[in-house]
Amino acid sequence: GGSRSESVLHVRFVTHFAIAFDIDGVLLRGGTPIPGAPAALRLLYDDPTLPAQLRIPYIFLTNGGGTTEAARALELSKQLHVPVLPDQVILGHTPFRKLADLFRNQRVLAVGKGEPDAVLRSYGFDHVVHMDSFVKEFENIDGLGRFKPWNQPLKEDDATPAADHLSKLAGVFVVSDPVDWSRDLQVICDVLRSDGKPGTEAVPGRPQPPIFFAADDYDYQSTFPVPRLGMGAFRIALESIYNRLPSAPLQYVSYGKPQLTVYKHAEHVLHDLSTQIISGALVGAPKTREPMHPPFESIYMIGDNPSTDILGARIAGPPWFPILTRTGCYRGQSISRLYEAGKVVEDVEEAVDFIIRREG
Ligand code: G3P
Ligand code: MG
Repeated sequence: GGSRSESVLHVRFVTHFAIAFDIDGVLLRGGTPIPGAPAALRLLYDDPTLPAQLRIPYIFLTNGGGTTEAARALELSKQLHVPVLPDQVILGHTPFRKLADLFRNQRVLAVGKGEPDAVLRSYGFDHVVHMDSFVKEFENIDGLGRFKPWNQPLKEDDATPAADHLSKLAGVFVVSDPVDWSRDLQVICDVLRSDGKPGTEAVPGRPQPPIFFAADDYDYQSTFPVPRLGMGAFRIALESIYNRLPSAPLQYVSYGKPQLTVYKHAEHVLHDLSTQIISGALVGAPKTREPMHPPFESIYMIGDNPSTDILGARIAGPPWFPILTRTGCYRGQSISRLYEAGKVVEDVEEAVDFIIRREG
């Protein structure tokens, strides 16, 4: 039977381990599941048709983004055929949420594929402008704009500038991979070399407006046979260009793996999830922090990128245990000691199989 009271009585047990899955190059290539990925995730549920029947606490820990955690959870459920909760999704830009208060009543620029503006608004930023809208406030800001066949001719109300007190930017957020690099490199340089308003002079002695990147991946595995340039490559391009300007060198902050804070946040999320599993909250009991879940003995990071996924788990140290797959950025046989993985496997299915056998 499936009644709520019966579900609450379902016996939950404590697992001493948890799993963090990288997405691109481990579970998906582009939007397509890597063979074995749905099967591997199904093993983590008692009944994979019910979100409540999660048996082993796991999260998605990706440097990608461009949509809200809730939207990404829905998308992942469809792509991987398991019920994914928004709390199980940590994106590159998830830490931006903590910055919203710093930018209260200040206008910020949202850059990148997908819906970077909707992402920042969902975190509580109250004055967000998408790069696509921002460029319309400045005639001819993109010197190559008229050679881009996808650009729509400007409509009359497009050119109406926003209220003056809002037009100065207090910060730039690269939320996801930029789409139009030539435009975005130009406009971000304009913003940072001015006092937050393209075409104006910087105030001497005033620091550059802050710029935040959701991740710093040089490349990542998508649908093409070899990895594609990522946000880290864009950052290098911006930095190289910006540092040729007479202003001081680029100051920036990057989030994402391999940063230690990402792994610490992931630990908290996994503990909360585990507490919900054993207290029955996932099967309908009221949400509670009791009984607390004891610390994990192992948290497995399954990734394809030695310099983000594996290095980060090594920096975090125990209980983190890095497992490297050969389905993404890494295809070799041996691996440099700097990034040493606890285990190298063919694919995610072999990784989960290894974990379940190791945990007995
Ligand atoms: O754009 C996505 C890429 O930067 C990394 O994604 O899931 O491999 O961390 P992932
Ligand atoms: Mg990856």
